[in-house]
Amino acid sequence: MARVIIVSNRVPIPKSRGASAGGLTVALRDLLTPGTVWFGWSGRLSADPSLQPAIVEARGVTYATIDLKAETYRGFYVGFANGTLWPLLHFRLGLMQYRQEDYDDYLSVNRLFAESLRTMLQPDDTVWAHDYHLVPFARMLRQQGFRGPLGFFLHVPFVPPSMLEALPVGRELVADLCAYDLVGFQTEEHARDFRDCAQRLLGATVRGEWVRLNGRSMRAFADPIGIDAEGFHQEAQRAENDSLVKRVAGSLAGRALAIGVDRMDYSKGLPQRFEAYGRLFERHPEHRRQVHFLQICPRSREEVDEYRKLRIELDRLTGRINGRFSEFDWTPLRYSARAAPRSTLAGLYRIGRIGLVTPLRDGMNLVAKEFVAAQSDEDPGVLVLSQFAGAAQELTEALIINPFDPDAIADAMHHALIMPAPERKERHQALKEKVFRTTAQAYCARFMDALLSIKAQSIPRVAA
Ligand code: F6P
Repeated sequence: MARVIIVSNRVPIPKSRGASAGGLTVALRDLLTPGTVWFGWSGRLSADPSLQPAIVEARGVTYATIDLKAETYRGFYVGFANGTLWPLLHFRLGLMQYRQEDYDDYLSVNRLFAESLRTMLQPDDTVWAHDYHLVPFARMLRQQGFRGPLGFFLHVPFVPPSMLEALPVGRELVADLCAYDLVGFQTEEHARDFRDCAQRLLGATVRGEWVRLNGRSMRAFADPIGIDAEGFHQEAQRAENDSLVKRVAGSLAGRALAIGVDRMDYSKGLPQRFEAYGRLFERHPEHRRQVHFLQICPRSREEVDEYRKLRIELDRLTGRINGRFSEFDWTPLRYSARAAPRSTLAGLYRIGRIGLVTPLRDGMNLVAKEFVAAQSDEDPGVLVLSQFAGAAQELTEALIINPFDPDAIADAMHHALIMPAPERKERHQALKEKVFRTTAQAYCARFMDALLSIKAQSIPRVAA
């Protein structure tokens, strides 16, 4: 039987019936049918990891995971994936740290993944790997003798050649991406940047979406990821009865709610957003006492120095803004470093008058789409969206801002707060139509169709 094998660093093994699903699980839901295998890291570290994956079966899907050694995990995840690739791919060269030892660990985890998965693979399988942790995985799996179709989707942005050149192993990474048959990007800009890198750094021949290197062809295309728009919309409607959502709504006492929800990551533009919120009260003092900004940002990747520094910075900025603008009966900024259940977030988006999505750089940003899907048609909120989120390519009816410009964000907030209902509704209808069209289901189907059509055309996938 032809099976689909999903490979990603983290494996979302369903824990309980009611557990809420992450973005990747939602995006790949149509593939989670009996026979599918999802392979990756177990989340555990051990002194002597076995090559034989541990297996959990849930609703017919096989979840197969392996442990990693603590030292290799550090170099792979903390070092190369999140200390080198993450800042580079988010245009933060100044934060990029490169150590050859980390790259070696990154390669050895990819090799381990390939060796371990090989023990489970059948010749007819189709493999789909996800994200920047697994760039060299196709090459390693080919070395293990796998000949089936191999696809990859990059959830984060890609960079132009002039930037990739800063990475000492940048050419190797591009060559490794070329070892896949199909590579998907969030936007056409990212796909084009990758093809430019292949052409300029490796001398590959590019024709449209096709890249030819060393006698084999691969396709690099844009396949924007989406959400389960209908499901999220219904979740938001149900969440109006969530006790926490009701408490928050009650605590607003008629004031407008501006909401931001982000992993605590320096790519999300949080200090700039906080700064902009202060500017709102300087530039448009009529909004003092009239708005609450709730920022939810669960802590993330705290083993990486930059993330710890960000937390300290946000604590400081929260104190500064509240110290400066608070009144005895009004606290302008509510900031929480804890995660919230998906259903609560859906309900909070629904009562939000402004959704603040202002990353400095982002692959797509699904919060933008979730905020839109959660709104009511009768009294919709306004999305303030960074021009550097992949979502801005599609969601052009949002208030698009430059996230490096606090005054522009403040003015967009002002615009959102005074926007008449007819304009809010008109913008919302246009956004909603897009979010309900480019869904998770459409993303997944497009990728699988493209991957399987490469297989059907038997385009030379493995170099002679
Ligand atoms: O945005 C990229 C991404 O890999 C997401 O797919 C994921 O939700 C997030 O980062 C979490 O990162 P980590 O696995 O490092 O906690």
